[in-house]
Amino acid sequence: MAEMGRFGRWAVNVLTESRARRVLAQLGSHLAVREGAHVLELGMGGGGLVALIQERYRPARLVGTDFDPAQVSATDARLRRRWGTIPAGVATQVADALALPFPDASFDFVFAIAMLHHVEAHHTEYSQRPRALAEIRRVLRPGGRLVYSDLFRREEIRRSLAELGFREEFLRSGLRHDLAIYRAPSPPVATS
Ligand SMILES: C[S@@+](CC[C@H](N)C(=O)[O-])C[C@H]1O[C@@H](n2cnc3c(N)ncnc32)[C@H](O)[C@@H]1O
Repeated sequence: MAEMGRFGRWAVNVLTESRARRVLAQLGSHLAVREGAHVLELGMGGGGLVALIQERYRPARLVGTDFDPAQVSATDARLRRRWGTIPAGVATQVADALALPFPDASFDFVFAIAMLHHVEAHHTEYSQRPRALAEIRRVLRPGGRLVYSDLFRREEIRRSLAELGFREEFLRSGLRHDLAIYRAPSPPVATS
């Protein structure tokens, strides 16, 4: 796991809104974010999804996070330019998906778009993702949803989610990546 270089950040940020629009279009009516929802995004990059989620769904709480402080401050500035001021209920902060600074059962949705493989030292490894997925389950309320996409080790991700008690609600498995919605167990399943 490492912060991206300048080119990596630029590439992520230039595509942030188009990627977010594509993700929301592919999820369509499978994604139902009600007004009172508490929503967390991990690895938000340039913040395109934070912007669209706020503008489309106006959840009660929306926290956009990234491991990289430079991305968090750039996204915060971008959102301020876009909206004039950051609306009440919306926040950006630094957070590591491997050790989330949030209490148990505090969100109805966690979004992790094209970011889970970034918790690994090398994107094709599969050693840290189970820990990130367990952290996601911890901060989700019973019955809350994980919305994710990933490119690498997709079957292992699905297997880890099943072991954590998640249930698949939507899966679009394309040539290049999976996009999925998984429902957290209700009540949560204990893990050893
Ligand atoms: C490929 S970008 C995806 C950005 C955004 N989700 C999108 O779809 O445009 C991956 C992001 O994950 C962040 N990241 C890397 N390791 C992370 C970690 N351990 N916890 C949270 N975010 C992390 C990176 O800083 C980067 O912004």
